[in-house]
Amino acid sequence: MPEITVTVNGTEHRLDVHDRLLLTDLLRDRLRLTGTHLGCEHGVCGACTVLLDDLPVRGCLVLAVQADGRQVRTVESVAPDASTLHPVQQAMADCHGLQCGFCTPGIVMTLVAMHERDERPATDEVDEALSGHLCRCTGYRNITEAAHRALGCEREEARR
Ligand code: FES
Ligand code: FES
Repeated sequence: MPEITVTVNGTEHRLDVHDRLLLTDLLRDRLRLTGTHLGCEHGVCGACTVLLDDLPVRGCLVLAVQADGRQVRTVESVAPDASTLHPVQQAMADCHGLQCGFCTPGIVMTLVAMHERDERPATDEVDEALSGHLCRCTGYRNITEAAHRALGCEREEARR
């Protein structure tokens, strides 16, 4: 069984893993980071999105061994402290984009990656990024509004 070293949310872990273990199962079952959700488990819904070396990936399409020597961030790492939300999380709350919350962690991780690039994306770029996420509650309007607010699209539009 291969041994991997992976840094998750800033903590280094050395773990023996089966070749076929998925990154999502490593996170949820071995490390008990259950904020990362599993929906379709074949790369369609985006619920399992985490950051691998700062880029969003479908955790259900990544093998744990592929994370060897790399940095993983999950939704548990996003808030700066226990009483403060990340701007993306705050926007989701403010715009009532949370609903049941099942798809939310994956969406938050996609938006956090865009937020960190700090490029003030256009609304259609944000909408395209959101199109990689399926929400079973289907309340996309508030999620989209939250994403635009978090990434500064409203301000961008106001300048046009
Ligand atoms: S659970 Fe990974 S994309 Fe749906
Ligand atoms: S908020 Fe319920 S699945 Fe998206």
